[in-house]
Amino acid sequence: MSAVPVITVDGPSGAGKGTISHLLSDTLGWHFLDSGALYRVVGQACLIEAVSWDDHSAVAEIAATLDVSFTLADDGEVLVAYKDIDVSRAIRTEEGGRGASTVAAIPAVRNALLHRQREFCQAPGLIADGRDMGTVVFPGAPLKFFLTASAAERAERRYKQLIAKGESVSLPRLLEAIEERDARDSSRSVSPLVPAEDAILVDSSGVSIDQVFATVMAKVKEKGLI
Ligand code: DC
Repeated sequence: MSAVPVITVDGPSGAGKGTISHLLSDTLGWHFLDSGALYRVVGQACLIEAVSWDDHSAVAEIAATLDVSFTLADDGEVLVAYKDIDVSRAIRTEEGGRGASTVAAIPAVRNALLHRQREFCQAPGLIADGRDMGTVVFPGAPLKFFLTASAAERAERRYKQLIAKGESVSLPRLLEAIEERDARDSSRSVSPLVPAEDAILVDSSGVSIDQVFATVMAKVKEKGLI
């Protein structure tokens, strides 16, 4: 592994990984890898190409040749495109999450995306957000976090996000979807969602983002990464 430092932030959906990773990336001025977005784009590309998520070899082919780009818009939003088609919104829907979680369970898909994820590791450093950043993609990272929160709290956070975006959703159905996704992500045979042995566990249930970030930054300083 290269000498470029990596901080990995893994955990289930809705635990606050995205927010904490963005704050870390902004504060340290390091690059940012949203690995979930890559899986989401693979799921979306399948819909565009009329490939079933269950057709493992066709999905793996899409992942291996994925024509994806991430660009920063003037308002600071990250625009995600597949073959020049703007998929930024579509990949963030509940259906987008289900597709990502389904294709992410295919070993050949994970393998195809491994090299692409490691390419994000560039100076001065990388914040890697995902499920297997500390266990598989960057096992040599000097600092690893595993963020958790109760399923009920994660569902509520997601509910508020989606309502703010104008999506119509039901809280009980969201909770069910989160529990289903947790089970699928944790039980798959390759790269299941588990903390790396050397990861620092941070439970964000009932804790404000500011407090979680303060805890994380204290560890970054302790490690001499800032
Ligand atoms: O972080 P996210 O919610 O955008 O991720 C969407 C799905 O992608 C998630 O349910 C599991 C999968 N995923 C994964 O398997 N490995 C990663 N490193 C990141 C995401």
